[in-house]
Amino acid sequence: MGSMSSELQERAKRHLWMHFTRMGSYADHEVPVIARGDGCYVYDEYGKRYLDGLSALYCVNIGHGRSEIGEAAARQAAELGFYTNWSYAHPRSIELAERIAELAPGNLNRVFFTSGGSEAVESAWKLAKAYHAARGEPTRHKIVSRHLSYHGTSMGALTITGLPALRAPFEPLTPGGAHVPNTNSYRWSEDRDPLWAADAIEEAIQFEEPSTVAAVILEPVQNGGGCFVPQDGYFQRVREICDRHGVLLISDEVICSWGRIGYWFGSERYGYEPDMITTAKGITSAYAPLGAVIASDHIAEPFMHGKSIFNHGFTFGGHPVACAVALANIDVIEREGLCQRVLENEGALRSMLESLCDLPIVGDVRGAGYFMAVELVKDKDTKETFDAAESEELLRGFLSGELYRRGLICRTDDRGDPIVQFSPPLIAGQQQFDEIEAVLRPVLAEAYERMSTWSSLSRA
Ligand SMILES: Cc1ncc(COP(=O)(O)O)c(C=O)c1O
Repeated sequence: MGSMSSELQERAKRHLWMHFTRMGSYADHEVPVIARGDGCYVYDEYGKRYLDGLSALYCVNIGHGRSEIGEAAARQAAELGFYTNWSYAHPRSIELAERIAELAPGNLNRVFFTSGGSEAVESAWKLAKAYHAARGEPTRHKIVSRHLSYHGTSMGALTITGLPALRAPFEPLTPGGAHVPNTNSYRWSEDRDPLWAADAIEEAIQFEEPSTVAAVILEPVQNGGGCFVPQDGYFQRVREICDRHGVLLISDEVICSWGRIGYWFGSERYGYEPDMITTAKGITSAYAPLGAVIASDHIAEPFMHGKSIFNHGFTFGGHPVACAVALANIDVIEREGLCQRVLENEGALRSMLESLCDLPIVGDVRGAGYFMAVELVKDKDTKETFDAAESEELLRGFLSGELYRRGLICRTDDRGDPIVQFSPPLIAGQQQFDEIEAVLRPVLAEAYERMSTWSSLSRA
């Protein structure tokens, strides 16, 4: 195994620039090279098997290694490898747009394709501005999003993203981003009004002056910070606030659609109807890059007459091969009843994670569907969190490496308070949940012991 693998390692280390990666850390570590996938599992370059508890990056919803998806892509490449949706159309983008409109809630019937999530978010913001301008309100340009939220990395999407560490190095950002509290009730005092975070959106709109605000953008379950779920009635209150002030509501479902939380679209789970949905990732189960803005009829309407135009696009938005892959992927989700499967099994995933609450380091378990996070704390009773140095030691010094070494891929993150996050393929079930527990329990127990020693040593 040594020589072949080390050659790949050397080539990776010399030429590949990995995303969001401390490249320096590979001076004395191996690059994790994932070479093959099958169902809920992936295999590294040496053939070692890992449970993919993250669906790669919240996206391989139907699981790895489905040859029918590859066959759909090959058929499409042979028939029409590429044509653009700039001025033209092609059969697969038309069929997919219609299919999405049928599945999407309410009157979300018009689909603008992109190549991924950041482009979808970027496009939704531009569409919100263009919509207001077309209706005679050109001053509405701002967008409201939540603290710790992740909405992508292009300059517009980054402005919307609520993570200071990602934003600060690239200032100045696009003007017009305003940020409001998220729904992390684990960190709220018990007597707090459960809808205060919704009301904070109204305060922000009023502070900014409603005639300058174009849209509010929220995920059904917020990824950044670790699977923050909405309070009962949160989205209904936000919808009322948006309507009261003429502000559009965008549901960023780049993660929370295509069955991830048990519905085709996450907004259905919480019973609200946005003006636009942004999606990507699971739309193709990541077998090809694709994203979309799904707009309500009333949002599209001003652009459907005379010379009016939404002057925006990307060469590859709605690539025919990606659209063929998406259609085949939706067939699988439908045929195998994967939304229903998630609803039937989410309780088992949650119970397994909640069973870890006897460990002193497990502070909170939260999320919905197959999208769950465990928050790690120093002290369960006081909910005291780890400071930056401790968190660095806990996550990067031990947890992420140890979980991977033991064959479990999941996300460890401390952009908010430290969490471990799970988003398994929707085909996962009790067997995979048991495997996650078998790795997680001893590793979290050891993490607590190590942190107790580490903290007392570093204090000494
Ligand atoms: C909610 C949300 N929006 C947007 C994005 C950006 O998507 P992409 O990485 O495809 O550009 C992500 C990526 O994780 C996301 O989770």
